[in-house]
Amino acid sequence: MSSIRRKITCLLLVLALDLVFLRGMYYSYVQAKDTLFIPVSGDSEEINDGGRKFSGDKQIALTFDDGPDSVYTPQLLNGLRERGVHATFFLLGENVEGREDIVKQMYHDGHLIGSHGYSHIQMGKETVKTACEQIEENNKKIEAIIGKRPQYLRPPYGSWTEELECTIDMTVVMWDVDPLDWKSQNAKKVVRHIVKNVEPGDIILLHDVFPTSVEAALEAIDALIKQGYTFVTVDELLVD
Ligand code: NI
Repeated sequence: MSSIRRKITCLLLVLALDLVFLRGMYYSYVQAKDTLFIPVSGDSEEINDGGRKFSGDKQIALTFDDGPDSVYTPQLLNGLRERGVHATFFLLGENVEGREDIVKQMYHDGHLIGSHGYSHIQMGKETVKTACEQIEENNKKIEAIIGKRPQYLRPPYGSWTEELECTIDMTVVMWDVDPLDWKSQNAKKVVRHIVKNVEPGDIILLHDVFPTSVEAALEAIDALIKQGYTFVTVDELLVD
């Protein structure tokens, strides 16, 4: 190889290395920038939803809102039982009506039963009186079935105010991971979102009223168990 050709080869090599280096710099810049501008997830940081227990374990909590559903909730319960996984259900009073046996089964299987209010209203926009009545009605309904008042509340849409906090002696539970399962109703997409975003100590929001959400929940469980995650109920994750 002539000296000129050797020099050109060297130069091209240096240029190529520079490009790789600059590209690396650019991507770390973009990533850092994205991280800076990611909004804090949910409303969870603004509202007291309890501190998290320190745990070296990869513990996470699956939560299901809006149920029970007469078809999909039993399917989910079967899937959870097969996998030995416990979850938290925030039941909607309206949907409990006529599905008391499903609630009993849920409780019997060891899941945590919380409240989502009686009907799906934005509690933060209602008067304190209305919000309290909603919560009380559902608490009574659930107590009549399982013999225990729910201690954990997830207000629909995460709509809540500090004023309500003083009135209601329940722990409000928001979430960390929201795969928008109700919106896409696409199981693969939901599983991808959960597996990509979940971190130890996280609370995942799902709805057991869609077949795709049930499918996604069970698939995500299988994938995350392989990654060493364990599933707990929110009372095991939160400090009151
Ligand atoms: Ni809801």
